[in-house]
Amino acid sequence: MSDQAFGLAKEMLAEIEAYPIETREQLEQFRIAFLGSKNRIKPLFAQIKEVEPTRKKEFGQTINAVKQAAQAKFDASKDQLSGGEFTGGGAQGSYESPDLTRPIPANSLGSIHPVSIVMNQIIDIFKRIGFVISEGPQIEDDWHNFTALNFPPDHPARDMQDTFFITEDISLRTHTSSVQVRVMENSKPPIRTISPGRVFRNETISARAHCQFHQVEGLYVDTDVSFADLKQTLYYFAQEMFGQDTKIRFRPSYFPFTEISAEMDISCFICKQEGCNVCKKTGWVEILGCGMVDPNVLENCKIDSEKYTGFAFGMGVERIAMLKYRINDIRLIFENDIRFLRQFTSSL
Ligand code: DAH
Repeated sequence: MSDQAFGLAKEMLAEIEAYPIETREQLEQFRIAFLGSKNRIKPLFAQIKEVEPTRKKEFGQTINAVKQAAQAKFDASKDQLSGGEFTGGGAQGSYESPDLTRPIPANSLGSIHPVSIVMNQIIDIFKRIGFVISEGPQIEDDWHNFTALNFPPDHPARDMQDTFFITEDISLRTHTSSVQVRVMENSKPPIRTISPGRVFRNETISARAHCQFHQVEGLYVDTDVSFADLKQTLYYFAQEMFGQDTKIRFRPSYFPFTEISAEMDISCFICKQEGCNVCKKTGWVEILGCGMVDPNVLENCKIDSEKYTGFAFGMGVERIAMLKYRINDIRLIFENDIRFLRQFTSSL
């Protein structure tokens, strides 16, 4: 009786070895037949009761060998088929490989963030008239963020900007005006530079305010720089940025680092001064702060204020992006919600 059981195991092994596996379908059939939950090796175990006691152990080992042979053949065939190798099998054989002629799935294109779009436009415009880019650190010392810019210690103007302090002397920069100090300290006039970058204010986040945003600072220092130069430069900028029919106007203002200081409005490019809710029916929208560099600031940066004068300006990038794209909540800009960002794909 034992011989019959051993014979069945031997036949099964021979069948496994001879089983043709040249395609994925055959591989799957093989798997079902010899490794699946109702595989054909299982019934062999029932034969054990037919085997004489002295050979039972040997019989167990034989069936295990059959099982292992099936698994090994399956693994090897699977590797071969997924590797796209020629799997042999007579004159015809078969070649299972990825179909290289299939079209690739369309890549979903990213989009440029609205802040980057606007920032790049601003940079491009000023580059055309000879401004170079300069950058500075986001973590800044008191000197560069405040003192050199004519905010003496305890000066009430420091309260104009809510500051994130790291130590008494170190804070996150509240504006990119800090970069103009670094540039003036490290180079000699003529200086014509713009400084784009991220700034931080300790503000409660709302639809209109955020604790981080971007600014572009501008600085021009040379002999005989006048307010007329400032006006002409910013007029050029406004027309390039918002359209050739854009008008500008200046309102007196105050900044510690400029004297005289002004805020610049542009004619509302949305309603063309007909009156809309963006310009609050005034026909004008505020776009930046500017002024003639205070002689104290030049002196703080070791530039002779008798010989040189300069103008500076600073604008918020989010504000311009929000106006241009009619974004009514600044938080959208920082949330990275893909439904928001996708809307800028066409602006690539
Ligand atoms: N630093 C100012 C701010 O953050 C913006 C600014 C205003 C920059 C006037 C200037 C300037 O250079 O002249 O609010």
